[in-house]
Amino acid sequence: MKVTVVGAGAVGASCAEYIAIKNFVSEVVILDIKENFAEGKAMDLMQTSSLNSFDTKISGSTNDYEKTANSDIAVITSGIPRKPGMTREELIGINAGIVKSVSQQLLKYSPDVILIIVSNPMDTMTFLTHKITGIPKNRIIGMGGALDSARFKYRLAEALECPISDIDGMVIGGHSDKGMIPLTRLATRNSIRVSDFLSEDRLSQVLNDTKVGGATLTSMLGTSAWYAPGAAVSALVHAIACDQKKIFPCSSYLDGEYGLNDLCIGVPVVLGSSGIERIVEIDLDESELVALKDSADAVKKTNDLLSDLKI
Ligand code: LAC
Repeated sequence: MKVTVVGAGAVGASCAEYIAIKNFVSEVVILDIKENFAEGKAMDLMQTSSLNSFDTKISGSTNDYEKTANSDIAVITSGIPRKPGMTREELIGINAGIVKSVSQQLLKYSPDVILIIVSNPMDTMTFLTHKITGIPKNRIIGMGGALDSARFKYRLAEALECPISDIDGMVIGGHSDKGMIPLTRLATRNSIRVSDFLSEDRLSQVLNDTKVGGATLTSMLGTSAWYAPGAAVSALVHAIACDQKKIFPCSSYLDGEYGLNDLCIGVPVVLGSSGIERIVEIDLDESELVALKDSADAVKKTNDLLSDLKI
């Protein structure tokens, strides 16, 4: 199993590290446009292999897509991250062109590859990849919901003062501060609804803290976060590479599911060896459906900017 990670920045490197360290694929190739940067990251990571006991072979390349040939899975992290105060949507002008060319180059050498999109605005970049590559929709997966759900669980565990392993919860909708929908009604602590433990006020604080999870870290770090995004990608890659049939909320192309059409947005999906094996339609209540519709409208507005950019 060969995995390519495009972009050797903080997210790409941490994602390559988590994939390698879990030892479930034979090969990880990291690519970057900056001369020798991916090669350096790969060498540094390889020098941890005896210490961290993994056999994954990691190599780096300066933008030579031939080195990515026959990848089973490719992760696109390329483009610029946001700076404090910026929204993910503001990155579209630069990132759209980059994601377009990266996905085309990847497919040239790996026509059957499954693509995982991380670059922001993530839902629109996933949609763009869908439009320009024309590959089956099960092979294009946007990462956001897996990350947002991890942040949701962190905030729930913090509020409940319990281990995160006790928590189950999911965030659907767009990967944006306003568009995320943490499903507080369905979240549980060891099968018990979290609303049995937390007041409405505390739950709404958890919801708000989750929605601005990325922005909070961007203002603390001066750039966007990388450990949790990297770990979220590696969990998706793991589910696909090992045919786990795990459910994650991922940005997926919708064709009528949840009453939505012609966009990519976060919904629960089953991930296995062919990528998105099934979109799971859960029973949302009235307010959750309205929130999903509003979130979809916002994602579509950002998608519309692609035609202004003539991408
Ligand atoms: C974040 C970026 C990766 O939410 O979108 O941290």
